[in-house]
Amino acid sequence: MSFDVTADAYLSFMGRYSEPLAGLFADWSGVRRGQRALDVGCGAGALTEQLVMRLGAPAVAAVDPSASFVSATQQRLATVDVQQAGAELLPFADAQFDAVLAQLVIHLMPDAVAGLREMARVTKPGGLVSACVWDHAGEHGPLATFWNAVHDLDPDEPGEATMPGTSDGDLAALFSSAGLVEVEASSLTVTRHYDSFDEWWQPYLLGVGPAGAYAAELSDAERSALRARCVELLPAGAFDVSALAWCARGVVA
Ligand SMILES: C[S@@+](CC[C@H](N)C(=O)[O-])C[C@H]1O[C@@H](n2cnc3c(N)ncnc32)[C@H](O)[C@@H]1O
Repeated sequence: MSFDVTADAYLSFMGRYSEPLAGLFADWSGVRRGQRALDVGCGAGALTEQLVMRLGAPAVAAVDPSASFVSATQQRLATVDVQQAGAELLPFADAQFDAVLAQLVIHLMPDAVAGLREMARVTKPGGLVSACVWDHAGEHGPLATFWNAVHDLDPDEPGEATMPGTSDGDLAALFSSAGLVEVEASSLTVTRHYDSFDEWWQPYLLGVGPAGAYAAELSDAERSALRARCVELLPAGAFDVSALAWCARGVVA
């Protein structure tokens, strides 16, 4: 998936939402001082930083398959153990962490249940696995207007709506399939402000994630048509976008 981009590109596109989400998600996951935690799919380090604020850098590790993101998180948090790896093959022995978290990652895994099982493997018995994913299957994800415009012009394009964990209840079902117990689900919402349409549109042209990849593959004429449809769907002038993430957490038996 298209995350071989600079941290700056990521931050101006998705970081706008994932940075404020990270504190809410860390709180909802209940991480607390004295625990050791792993951030899986750390990206530019939004959640890693929140874990460090709560637990201290020596108690936090992070992984991401993207070399540019590993480097960005390592620069942001110099003393944290940051390694290049995917959720499916974590470079840790069994039962190393009290809490293993993944923010906005599960839907990108080729096999989400296998990824969650591997996250559970490195968690201590009685420890917590926790994840959140945007509501891409519903109308309240941060990219909903973009994908609605795409769908109006290209009805067969599913966007991110069919990805695992993106609908109400799906993430919790994946947790149960992965063998986690005492599974609980909830949702978190963040709201961001845009002064203009172009402030909102420009980050879609940076090639980040499935939406950026879709925009990059269009011809100039198709991209102009998509932009025009987005203009029609959004309010004129300044506007806010609220983004809802489904959350699930479960205990390792
Ligand atoms: C939407 S970003 C979220 C990044 C960060 N957690 C945040 O909230 O800002 C998705 C991240 O998942 C990573 N990723 C993609 N596939 C993955 C996998 N199989 N295992 C772990 N991370 C993965 C990407 O490299 C990217 O950094």
